[in-house]
Amino acid sequence: MATAPVMEQDRTGGTGHVLSLRGITKTFGAVAALTDVDLDVARGEVVAIVGDNGAGKSTLVKVLSGVHAPTSGTITFEGSEVTISTPADAQRLGIATVFQDLALCENLNVVENLFLGQEIGPARLDEVAMEVKSWELLRELSAKIPTVRIPVASLSGGQRQTVAIARSLLGDPKIVMLDEPTAALGVAQTAEVLNLIERLRERGFGVIMISHNMADVQAVADRVAVLRLGRNNGVFRVSDVSSEELVAAITGASDNVVTQRSARRGAIAKGEPA
Ligand SMILES: Nc1ncnc2c1ncn2[C@@H]1O[C@H](COP(=O)(O)OP(=O)(O)OP(=O)(O)O)[C@@H](O)[C@H]1O
Ligand SMILES: [Mg+2]
Repeated sequence: MATAPVMEQDRTGGTGHVLSLRGITKTFGAVAALTDVDLDVARGEVVAIVGDNGAGKSTLVKVLSGVHAPTSGTITFEGSEVTISTPADAQRLGIATVFQDLALCENLNVVENLFLGQEIGPARLDEVAMEVKSWELLRELSAKIPTVRIPVASLSGGQRQTVAIARSLLGDPKIVMLDEPTAALGVAQTAEVLNLIERLRERGFGVIMISHNMADVQAVADRVAVLRLGRNNGVFRVSDVSSEELVAAITGASDNVVTQRSARRGAIAKGEPA
């Protein structure tokens, strides 16, 4: 029997995008939360989305997770144009979201949290299978969780983030979106979560990470997309951009410098006084 050649998994980030957004606009009445936004994510690539408060980051996450329908624009997933009208649509496609509040149940243990609402077994819960699967997932992520039978309330912030990420992987996603995964964490826990994001990349997931922290972005992202006032304000390779340049793109300081300079160049070219 002839078998198709196994394709090399694309880790270049330059081609074979699993997810592409084109011209995404989302308005709430008179408020334009997103205007004409483009974004590409490849397998095995970590794309950070940065921007000031109100820049549209959460709105973009909500458009991709089926919470908000875009007003216009197209979403292409694995080569086909798709409509993501509900969270179930996003899950079916393979777009998983870890929301900022994590949505874990404090009083339930790790296994119970992982399988909440999707318990294995036709009629009753298969406790053993769920525990085995839990360990499998946590091991793949090299997660530092001492036992899966302890209530989430007694875990550290980094461990909780780990549980939330592990849960998002149960539906076999292609894309994992993390909203501010390190915002509430200390130094060691942040490092733990950044390691986890590296594991996701190694396993070939496309990762979208919303962040306010330039150090985290530079530690783990391949590319960084800047949103400003709901619009694209630059996409950079992390290896080619300084934190100052990123901050300038986020705050709009680059508008001034860049536009003034190009205006000046234009004026010189026309022979006008600069
Ligand atoms: N449901 C909504 N109804 C009306 N306006 C909204 C709604 N959701 C977001 N907006 C507006 O859209 C803009 C973008 O908001 P969004 O929450 O996406 O920003 P953000 O980049 O996530 O900011 P932050 O860093 O503060 O979380 C803001 O002006 C916000 O007030
Ligand atoms: Mg937000």
